[in-house]
Amino acid sequence: MSVRNLAIDQPASFVFTGENLEQSKYIIAKYPVGKQASAVIPLLDMAQRQEGWVSRPAIECVAKMLDMPVIRVLEVATFYTMFNLQPVGRTHIQVCTSLSCVLRGSNDVVKACKETLRIGFGETTSDGAFTLSEVECAGACVNAPVAQVEDDYYEDLDFDSTVKIIEGFKRGERPTIGSQSGRTGSAPVGEPTSLTEDPTKQVEKQDLVVAKMAFQKTQADLAARPADDPGKKV
Ligand code: FES
Repeated sequence: MSVRNLAIDQPASFVFTGENLEQSKYIIAKYPVGKQASAVIPLLDMAQRQEGWVSRPAIECVAKMLDMPVIRVLEVATFYTMFNLQPVGRTHIQVCTSLSCVLRGSNDVVKACKETLRIGFGETTSDGAFTLSEVECAGACVNAPVAQVEDDYYEDLDFDSTVKIIEGFKRGERPTIGSQSGRTGSAPVGEPTSLTEDPTKQVEKQDLVVAKMAFQKTQADLAARPADDPGKKV
């Protein structure tokens, strides 16, 4: 994972636009008085959705709104790879290279991205169309290897499916999201191994009256036993 530094070129200032300002006040109000710092991630996310990335002035603006030291907001922004600390291209491809994805072939996904886009991690194509980033676990290990584009996940990737998706974006399409191997959601590859029963099948109902009578009879039998009967339970 590369070091996450703030961009060298920074804008002079940042302010939330009218609608986002209202939304940020709404988010802050969700938290108890004195706990406004809990809104730091949603506010940074909103700043990123507004500008495309998180600049130093945006970090300072969020810190001021939440009455936090700037360093605390900076720590959050630099820790989570979901925050772009540099401007990104129109299509931002984030490839997970953490353990599950590596074991399931993310090296091929990375190779496909680099060869098709002719850029490396942290770089943007000369026409500003694509940025390629390496990220830590995207939280979709069960469908590894995974790449994220904006809010969408492309899962069960391999070299060919990754190239196909990138070519789709190049043509201005929005390739189908989710598993690229054809499996349903996170279901096992091949046949289902659990929950295989027919969910519409009627389950035999237990007769609660009969069950209650049996329980009461057992209790009565136990109570009738002599006090020194070792089988008697209190
Ligand atoms: S390791 Fe890649 S999604 Fe978790």
